[in-house]
Amino acid sequence: MAFPATRMRRLRASGVLRGLVRETELTPAHLVQPLFVELGTDSRTPVATMPGVDRLSISHAVEEAGELADAGVPAVLLFGVPADKDEQASGAYDDEGVVQLAVRALKEAHPDLVVMTDVCLCGFTSHGHCGVVRADGAVDNDVTLELLAKTAISHARAGADAVAPSDMMDGRVGALRGQLDGEGLSETPIVAYSAKYASAFYGPFREAAESAPAFGDRRSYQMDPANSDEAVREALLDVEEGADMLMVKPALPYLDVIARVKEATALPVAAYNVSGEYAMVKAAAAAGALDERAAVLEALTGIRRAGADVVITYHAKEAARWLQ
Ligand code: PBG
Repeated sequence: MAFPATRMRRLRASGVLRGLVRETELTPAHLVQPLFVELGTDSRTPVATMPGVDRLSISHAVEEAGELADAGVPAVLLFGVPADKDEQASGAYDDEGVVQLAVRALKEAHPDLVVMTDVCLCGFTSHGHCGVVRADGAVDNDVTLELLAKTAISHARAGADAVAPSDMMDGRVGALRGQLDGEGLSETPIVAYSAKYASAFYGPFREAAESAPAFGDRRSYQMDPANSDEAVREALLDVEEGADMLMVKPALPYLDVIARVKEATALPVAAYNVSGEYAMVKAAAAAGALDERAAVLEALTGIRRAGADVVITYHAKEAARWLQ
């Protein structure tokens, strides 16, 4: 006799059932490409530790968005690299700042592209922390909230389709929601980085965004990798404060967290497959240790299977082309 599992395997192998019974779909429609946009020269500057990723001038970002659209990637997440930084992160909420200018240019050239913006101060502060640092060296939560809200408002006014606060200050989602609403921007959704871990996998990003903290680390405002109950609590708080989508970051070491947050909230969940996860695959593929295409599609499928509706990944353009 044949066991049911054997029968199922044979049917799948013959291709009769494979598509019909597949539990998880990975299509370009689920992918978001992060973009680093820089003011100044009209250039593409490669990020050494992330082969295939460049810091882009605004015109190159517009060109890149065209390629993403052709590949079927519907959305980008913008990070700005300003020409100047200061202690108050003024470039973050300057209406003529790099992110604001990039949003306007991208939306004008590609009105259908979904443009999300990272809302954080770390790329704009001279010390590289995600907020305003007090004399005693700690980040001032409430002063930072004011500046984050100004930043989000300025992104939304420039035409951002959604704002994604990644700073991890307490109460930031509520503060942003209240202030956006007060400015008549109640239709701008908030994608909250609910579970952002203090992770070693952000290394290459800090090179790309030039945002490594000049002193200390981010452990006082990012989460301990050992905790997942805490991630669920943070996510529920963000829901209460008005988040429209929740994010878990990084992705691959935290698949259980993605699953728990999805289960607990039933909101759309985005997983951020971060710079270090990308760099690992690229380095292993370059060393001939693995088949890049198969590894990337397996990893992205796994992230979707865990419960992510949306996958933010530096592999987006390439993966979308493979999937087309
Ligand atoms: C800024 C921010 C970081 C990332 C996204 N937003 C870095 C950090 O907290 O140091 C990391 C993304 C990546 O590694 O791809 N707060």
